[in-house]
Amino acid sequence: MTDKFYYPSDEVVTQASIKDYDSLYQRSICDREGFWAEQANELGWYQPWTQVLDDSKPPFYKWFVGAKCNIVHNAIDRHLKSATRNKLAIIWESERGAVRTFSYHALNREVCQFANVLKSMGVRKGDIVTLYMPQIPELVFAMLACAKIGAAHSVVYGGFSTEALAARIEDANSRVLVTADGGFRRGKPTDLKTIANEAMQRSPTIEVCICVRNNGMDVVMESERDFWYHDLQALPIASPKCDTEMMDSEDMLFILYTSGTTGKPKGLIHTHGGYSVYTSTTHRMAFDIKPDDRWWCAADPGWITGHSYMVYGPLINAATLVMYEGAPNYPYPNRWWQMVEKYGVNILYTSPTAIRGLMRYGDRWPSRHDLTSLRLLGSVGEPINPEAWRWFYEVIGGSRCPIIDTWWQTETGGFMICPLPITPLKPGSATKPFFGNEVGVVDDAGNEVPVGEEGKLVIKNPWPGMARTIFKDDARYAELYWGDYQSKGYYKAGDSAKIDSDGYIWVIGRMDEVLKVSGYRLGTAEIESALVSHRAVSEAAAIGLPHEVKGNGIHTYVILTTGLVGDKALESELKEHVAHELGRIATPETVHFVDSLPKTRSGKIMRRVLRARALGLPEGDLSTLEE
Ligand code: PRX
Repeated sequence: MTDKFYYPSDEVVTQASIKDYDSLYQRSICDREGFWAEQANELGWYQPWTQVLDDSKPPFYKWFVGAKCNIVHNAIDRHLKSATRNKLAIIWESERGAVRTFSYHALNREVCQFANVLKSMGVRKGDIVTLYMPQIPELVFAMLACAKIGAAHSVVYGGFSTEALAARIEDANSRVLVTADGGFRRGKPTDLKTIANEAMQRSPTIEVCICVRNNGMDVVMESERDFWYHDLQALPIASPKCDTEMMDSEDMLFILYTSGTTGKPKGLIHTHGGYSVYTSTTHRMAFDIKPDDRWWCAADPGWITGHSYMVYGPLINAATLVMYEGAPNYPYPNRWWQMVEKYGVNILYTSPTAIRGLMRYGDRWPSRHDLTSLRLLGSVGEPINPEAWRWFYEVIGGSRCPIIDTWWQTETGGFMICPLPITPLKPGSATKPFFGNEVGVVDDAGNEVPVGEEGKLVIKNPWPGMARTIFKDDARYAELYWGDYQSKGYYKAGDSAKIDSDGYIWVIGRMDEVLKVSGYRLGTAEIESALVSHRAVSEAAAIGLPHEVKGNGIHTYVILTTGLVGDKALESELKEHVAHELGRIATPETVHFVDSLPKTRSGKIMRRVLRARALGLPEGDLSTLEE
């Protein structure tokens, strides 16, 4: 924690739409519903709400009750009625330099065509369509197409692999899968369709698979189940006109699976109404979006950051989105800086991992480029270390651009703690709560811990962007997030944090069995079950240890099946196995072969003990250790 403030320049303050955080914050807290109603009135609704917030059955809150809307009505349809229709909605560039651009008018035509294709394949309001795609415009079209016809999408990150995809298809009971032949990464084609084929075999609910041709590789297509999107798009059914379905404010917009404490990922549900209001308001206010902004959220749409701030929030705010498919350092470490210069990007929103990864190459790569178009920078996904913060601020932002460090989660739908451009910054702190939110750092009883002490991060109120439940598991939702502080009505984030004497919030990290690896969220239990699915492994434990670039690296401990002896070859095989089952991002740094694992008497693995031993730290209270 540091007390040194970085103050906004006079220019930043002059340009800022909100010049006084404190008074608007006070107003938003004193009249939360009034504040959110005011924000909701910025959007278009088919029918207004009768009640802003229904809090009669906590923690199952409802927002904008009785209203009719569709997120696509705000993200596209409304823009077609003004000059915005001719504005660029998407500028996409691939690693190989291919460029595709879409105005709002063109985006609408693409989305309508995709929507009509989905309809012709029997997709109806309320269905859940799984999307497993590279970072190409068709992923955005498919998401919006689902929303337009009232189907929910479940996007599975393209870096995930067979088991992760199969488990998500199965839980959602999806009948339709949209995928692609593959993508590109570091100059090489990546193969998605083969993984999709294996996943469809493991989880046979899929009746129709629509495949977008992207990298042109040979793939196996099963007749009657698999269809090329370009073939369907050429048929008369794929008309570029399609009505937007009228949805209830609380209808499901999407499911997004995220890792938790068990091996089974949780399907979090977000809705049309509240999520539209929350993502667009947070995006507009925290990043002070101007009509001509070129906004680049360098995340993958497969994660919540991509959903909220690559697709929905920015499109509702009629920004021009920049999208890039590929590695940040390929073919050279100036790939991103080239993009910023070429497209005149005004705001770059990325993760500490990406910043640290690019920082390693030094200042000479960014310094070759004109980065003066940048006005603001953003960070998300994990705490940003002050060293990376200062490099981002000084070298990329020319000490001119405030860094908007946004703390939030898949569950929250949008920013919960973040500065505004006018907020004095402290590197590593996400600063203050966003409007309408009261944030606390508390002990087990729910009482505030003293200033500067570590405690549990809680949100004390409902907000429109909150996940409504876990798919098919209301009880788990209520218990997991709201169970600990039920009498107080607090939402437990699962993070530990501190608040300093200036009221600045410092998020420290996860308190549960969730690891943030390169900003990606993975559960130790998922990694362990992937290991145990290998015939050589009888038991496994996974922990995270500090990693210079990734934030955390995955380290594993395995007990082999009786009679087997671990060696280098088996170590590589097990790493490869985890990558095959879950995805490259889950590949362990190390696999240690051990005879036993520290466990509690009830048989739970004490990962805390493994961590302490690996770091050479005191092992703490061992009274519950089995032996
Ligand atoms: O631990 C916090 C960390 O990411 C977790 C949420 O992960 P996920 O649902 O994948 O969403 C990531 C993108 C919103 C949080 O519980 N986290 C996220 N942003 C920050 C952060 N930790 C510190 N500072 C942040 N800005």
